[in-house]
Amino acid sequence: MLEQIIGNTEAFLSAVTRSERKKYGQFFTSELSAIYMASMFEINLETDCIRLLDAGAGSGILSVALIERIRNMGYKGEIILTCFENDHKIIPLLAENLKALDKKYRVTCHLRTENYITSQQFNLQPVLVMDSEAYDYIIGNPPYMKLGKDAKEVQVMSEICHGAPNMYFLFMAMGINSLNWGGELVYIVPRSWTSGAYFEAFRRYLFSNCVIEQIHLFESRDKVFNSEPILQETMIIKVKNTKAKPKKILITSSSTSDFDNISTYYADYDNVVGKDGYVYLVTDEKQENVLKRVNRLTNTLPSLNMKMCTGLIVDFRLKEELRDQYEDGACPLFYSSHIKNGTVVWPQGRPGEYILTSKRTHLQKNTNYLFVKRLTSKEEHRRLQCGIYLSKHFPGYRHISTQNKVNFIMCETEEVVYGLYALFTSTLYDEYYRLLNGSTQVNSTEVNSIPVPSKEIIRNMGRELMKTEINETNCNKITDRWIK
Ligand SMILES: C[S@@+](CC[C@H](N)C(=O)[O-])C[C@H]1O[C@@H](n2cnc3c(N)ncnc32)[C@H](O)[C@@H]1O
Repeated sequence: MLEQIIGNTEAFLSAVTRSERKKYGQFFTSELSAIYMASMFEINLETDCIRLLDAGAGSGILSVALIERIRNMGYKGEIILTCFENDHKIIPLLAENLKALDKKYRVTCHLRTENYITSQQFNLQPVLVMDSEAYDYIIGNPPYMKLGKDAKEVQVMSEICHGAPNMYFLFMAMGINSLNWGGELVYIVPRSWTSGAYFEAFRRYLFSNCVIEQIHLFESRDKVFNSEPILQETMIIKVKNTKAKPKKILITSSSTSDFDNISTYYADYDNVVGKDGYVYLVTDEKQENVLKRVNRLTNTLPSLNMKMCTGLIVDFRLKEELRDQYEDGACPLFYSSHIKNGTVVWPQGRPGEYILTSKRTHLQKNTNYLFVKRLTSKEEHRRLQCGIYLSKHFPGYRHISTQNKVNFIMCETEEVVYGLYALFTSTLYDEYYRLLNGSTQVNSTEVNSIPVPSKEIIRNMGRELMKTEINETNCNKITDRWIK
């Protein structure tokens, strides 16, 4: 039956434009992804009645995949399925598909055409008012849609929203909110929620109610969704409503979305779900060892009175303060293009390399810093790309400034700058950062949470690097000597 649903979903796709579907964050799960997601549930065949939820059901692909599996496993009891879908264009198709589903598999279907988020009650401590509002298995491919701060969905779930959130994690949280005790939720979602301050309250909510049992990662982005090129890195996550934390999390990954050659790895729960509340996506032993090595360290930059900060200037908003040539009172302004082969090369003759301002907040002390590029491209082989900035090379300026595409760490001595350079240029830290954050941005809050060695060790590493050539190989040698 799934094939038939996929067929009529494709007919729908050809009749509706992409921009119309974008309004609802609508893209459909491929057949193989739907089957895989359905296979992740541990179905209790002993119970008399199974309640299912598919919120943002589209044409019902996920519901059909799950119900086919449950019936094929021999389950004879009652199945009650609730689907939420509020795009009036697809509702007739969904209704037709649910009718066919009932006919073939005997399913009581409730099709709810209201907004899934605004029609529910959200509680930070979920209290299920009526049994009929709780579900045993929840499957979903939620809409990916950025919401404004004032969106009505954000008001309903303000406790877990920070800034302008994305609809997909509101769907995840609302699902958790109505998961029966022992119930399971399998969602296909972007990877972005696993780190970052925007999702912090959501992660806290997730981990105070559920545990993660399995994660599936796609190594390539093709074909995960039916006929759609999706740029976000995507994952499937399975969580369970229980207080019993498993020892291990099953992490599967496939190089293609055909789900052949799936690799399987059981990672320690406490390595994947960090004490800092971030989720580290490890797929093999080598990666887990990277986590273990770094997590053994007990300091962070802030605990050593240091901090990574984001550059001060949004250059295109401050054109009147920028200068191409030196003028009396102007200070150097550093962009990420000035970070070159581990050093800071300035000036380069690019426009706006000086800033003339009376605003104190646009300037910083001219002292020693480690500069780190905030943005790198997917093709570049390193996420953490650093440059050593020493004030002695830029004499005559009391202040300097940095564009917001540069992150910086102020350091009390040159040795510390070199030490941090060795650390953050090592393969160990680059790999650690990639496990923490799948995007190409280097986020200072996250770097400030990464464990680092003591100041004494950082100074020693710096002294060693100062005596040799500054390159990745030497940084690796030094880091491997000091961090076992
Ligand atoms: C990413 S699509 C997934 C469709 C289907 N579950 C699948 O996997 O093929 C998300 C669906 O959620 C629907 N949707 C978006 N916002 C919604 C809301 N607030 N309440 C209910 N449905 C919503 C969209 O119309 C769309 O059909």
